[in-house]
Order: sequence, then C-alpha cells, then structure tokens
Amino acid sequence: MASSSEFTRAHNEFRSDTFTVPTKEMLEAALVSSLGDSVYQEDKDTLDLEKKVADLAGKEAGLFCVSGTLSNQIGLRANLHQPPHSVLCDYRGHVYLHEAGGLATLSQAMVSAVHPANGIHLTLEDIIDNFIPDDGNIHAAPTKVISLENTLHGLLFPLDEIKRISAWCKENNVKLHLDGARLWNASVETGISIKEYCSYFDSVSLCLSKSLGAPIGSVLVGNPDFIAKANHFKKQNGGGIRQGGMLARMASIAIDQNLSKIKRSHEMAKELGKFCEENNIALECPVHTNFVFLDMNKMKMSNEVLLANAKKYNVKQMGCRVSFHFQISQESFENVKKAIYDTYLHSLEHPFYATAPARIYDINNR
Ligand SMILES: Cc1ncc(COP(=O)(O)O)c(C=O)c1O
Repeated sequence: MASSSEFTRAHNEFRSDTFTVPTKEMLEAALVSSLGDSVYQEDKDTLDLEKKVADLAGKEAGLFCVSGTLSNQIGLRANLHQPPHSVLCDYRGHVYLHEAGGLATLSQAMVSAVHPANGIHLTLEDIIDNFIPDDGNIHAAPTKVISLENTLHGLLFPLDEIKRISAWCKENNVKLHLDGARLWNASVETGISIKEYCSYFDSVSLCLSKSLGAPIGSVLVGNPDFIAKANHFKKQNGGGIRQGGMLARMASIAIDQNLSKIKRSHEMAKELGKFCEENNIALECPVHTNFVFLDMNKMKMSNEVLLANAKKYNVKQMGCRVSFHFQISQESFENVKKAIYDTYLHSLEHPFYATAPARIYDINNR
C-alpha cells in the first residue's frame, strides 16, 4: 500500500483538479474488483459503472473510456455522419482547443468556434448567428452538432439557456453534445440533478478523474445505438480496455465517496475570489465553482514571480488559473493566498508588461 505521504501529496496542488490522488478506499476496492475482459463486455465492474453513470444521467447506455478526450471525440464522431460537416462550440471549448485537433482528424469536421456575446456562455442567439444550415449551398460545411461545456472555466451554464438551445436543436435536427467533464461541479453548485441536465442533450461526456478524484476515466452516455457506434470508434482509436474492472471499481468508489466533498472546493475558490476582490486583485471571470482565474495582464502581475512565490510558500501553481479540489489542505489554502498577495505587492513596485496579448490557447486552462 502507498505511504501516507503519497495519499496527501495533492494537498498543495492548485495546478488542476486532475492532480487528486486515489484514496486508500479506491486502492482497496481495486483489489477486489472483477477481472473480466471489458472489450468483450464481460467485465462486471465496468458494466456496473457504465450502468450507474447512465442511470445517474437518465440515459439508456454508457461507455467507460480512458479519458475525457476520448469520450468527447468519439461522442462527437458518433453524432456525425458524412463530411462536409461542422461542429459549433465556444471558442474556449476543450473539444476544440485542447484535444489535439481530434475534430479535424477523427471527424473531418470544420469547427465554428464562437465568442459568446455576453463573455460567459453561449446563447441561442450566438448559435443562430453562427449556424450553417444544410440548405444545399455547396460552399458551406453544415452545422450538424453543437457542443456545449458545463462548467467551462468553472462557469455555470444557465439551465434556461440550455433548454432554449436544446429545443431549437430538436426543431432543426441538430445533435447536442455536452462536455460534462465537470457537470458534477455544476450539479453540486446548483442543486440541479445530473439527470435533469443530461435530459437536454443527445450525448454527454462525464469525467471521473477531475473533481471526483478517480485515477482515470470518463463515461460517455446516450442511447444504445449511439453508444454502440461510439464503442466502434473507441476500439478503432485503441481505447479498448481489457481487464478494466480495477479502474471501473475505483471510479465507482470516487462517485460514492467524493461527490459530496466537491462543495468545499467551491467554497474555497469563492473565498479566494472574495480575498482577491477585497485586495483589488482583478479576476478574468466570476467564480462559480472550483476555479479562480487571476487577470494577470490587467494586474501587471508576472507569472514568473507568481511561480517563485508559490515555491516559497510550498504550493504548486502553473499560472493564472487556481484550481480547487477536495484534497487541498487548509494550510495550503492559506499559503496560496499569500503567494498571490505577494505577487500582487510585487506588481505594484515592478509592473510586468506582457509583450504579447493574452492567447486564446493557454496551456494553463486545460
Ligand atoms: C472541460 C474538459 N473536457 C475534457 C477534458 C479531457 O479530459 P482528459 O484529460 O481525461 O482527456 C478536460 C481535461 O482537463 C477538460 O477540462
């Protein structure tokens, strides 16, 4: 069994909520997992996990995948048919920016990357303005799938807007996919069930290795025909897991034991947001869930200085995004505030002028 320091190694990890480590209970569960072949759909724990997440999402079928990237990309691919076609999403969407060009290679899809007019989330009006109809115009690549993300940069997507977009998609025969890597966070924060959120989408990818703390995995949910198609693409992309039971069992424990712990990570993030506000440290966007985005450019704060201060206070940071998860300790929380505050004080004396404008693609925002 891992040493006790291994189990607490994420106490000062503010780089991402993916840095959580498996709990002792997860490792113990792995030892008693089923050992069947999940490619042949003979592994009980994998089948149980797929059913558990599909039930939570109110969908008929689920598919356990190694990563959110795989479940998003095969989910989008299985919603598409023959190119030319395009996928419409937020210009900050993970499926577009951070999945290694999967939409171009796997789906041969054009992407309409849309800037939300309100700066926070897409609206039906944004979508209609950028929608490409399948009207016989041979110059265009018709929009066949709209992909939303909830949460995106920790921001909540309002349910009423999801309902409007979903109704419009049904009327216009467009599929609606959700990158729900952190839908758990949205559900915990708003009290809206995973099932209610998912009812407005044809397909949803739910990550288990982010806020829930499983070491690996994501489940794609949808109807059985869709999942059968997605499974074909999963295999084609080398995503078949043979004895997947250990991973599935760990992920199942993560859902049972860690979902209720997410709330505290939101409270910490909001407390940091308040601390920044009280000290006139600007943020890029409001804090809704577990991320705080410092507006480094506006504050003329240097990333290099921030990283040096993080080191001084023994916390791990990688840039403007401060991520929270259930394994952050109170001591590290106090320390990250000090690292940010010292960086702010330094910027007053030594303002840092970025030589290039902020880039859309930012490695820190994964
Ligand atoms: C919003 C979002 N979607 C999908 C993914 C992809 O997940 P994975 O790293 O498991 O491929 C991430 C990863 O951080 C993410 O933040």
